Amino acid sequence: MTAARSLVVDLGGIVLPTPVMIAAGCGGTGRELVGLVDLRRVGAIVSRTITVTERVGADMPRIAESPAGIVWETGLQNPGLDPFVSGELLRLARGGARIVVSIGGGSLEEYVHMTSVLQGRPEVAAIEIHLSGRDDELDRDVLGAHPDRLNEIVGAVARMSLVPVFAKLPGGCDDVVGLARTAVRAGATGVTLLASPPALGLDATRERLRIGTVSGWLSGPALKPITLRAVFDVAQALPDVPVIASGGVRTGEDAVECLLAGAWAVQVGTATLTDPAAAVTVAQGIVRRLNAAGLTSPAGLRGRLRPPEPTGAESHPVSTP
Ligand SMILES: Cc1cc2nc3c(=O)[nH]c(=O)nc-3n(C[C@H](O)[C@H](O)[C@H](O)COP(=O)(O)O)c2cc1C
Repeated sequence: MTAARSLVVDLGGIVLPTPVMIAAGCGGTGRELVGLVDLRRVGAIVSRTITVTERVGADMPRIAESPAGIVWETGLQNPGLDPFVSGELLRLARGGARIVVSIGGGSLEEYVHMTSVLQGRPEVAAIEIHLSGRDDELDRDVLGAHPDRLNEIVGAVARMSLVPVFAKLPGGCDDVVGLARTAVRAGATGVTLLASPPALGLDATRERLRIGTVSGWLSGPALKPITLRAVFDVAQALPDVPVIASGGVRTGEDAVECLLAGAWAVQVGTATLTDPAAAVTVAQGIVRRLNAAGLTSPAGLRGRLRPPEPTGAESHPVSTP
């Protein structure tokens, strides 16, 4: 008799019914998805990134299409922590979602304050730390790209938090494995790989930028190979650390690739914008693959990647671009 199949995953203390989450900023505020997707069938929803005080957001337009994704900049529009807690958070919880709250800030004090407010809230299943923003205190462009600061911010949040903490590492950084190691040593339960890398959209005909802010971030299918590489490298280096893949996942097959590369769970971002139930469809795709492979859980896919077949040809050293 084969054991019963289950999609349940335990990411170092947060137990999800499926390994497919809705990525930060792509699931709306809890109003938009009502009637379009049953959030109880989604692994978890990550809130848009919340800051201590309200952010009105970036100038319009905020999204520009690109051949394999979108360039976007929301300016982290959000109502601020207290209105979020009394409004959006409760609304999402009423829909039956497991909620991961994404927190962002420009100073240590802001991260500490947000953690202190969130840690007493029963609706919060985990915290994801947004680390791609500006570091106002140290006057640096990308707060989480610097190991000293990553250590400080993640360490402070992890020490205070009563729920698991995931560090969402900035996209476009050189040493992803080094940053992941720093985050985990500082106390992160796991890492989300990766945040969108910086990008620019141009309209050659009108000789204009395509989004209201000068530059933005890239999301969508173009990111999948970058996600796979980051997940693979980190999973090889830190096999016991829960890795959540984010970037370019829109089908069950994409998710299976991420799990094979070593991810414990995946997040679906841009695909949710066009299909609110994408996270559910992706989970169904994982089920099909588990059935076909005779596996009983998504964890069974981890580590199944086979090394390349020897060709007999002389091996070449690993290249650097
Ligand atoms: C419109 C939009 C808003 C986003 N807002 C946030 C956000 O508030 N915080 C965050 O960490 N990531 C945000 N992201 C990035 C996603 O969470 C995700 O990491 C990224 O889109 C890559 O995944 P994808 O290729 O599946 O879209 C946003 C992405 C989009 C498209």
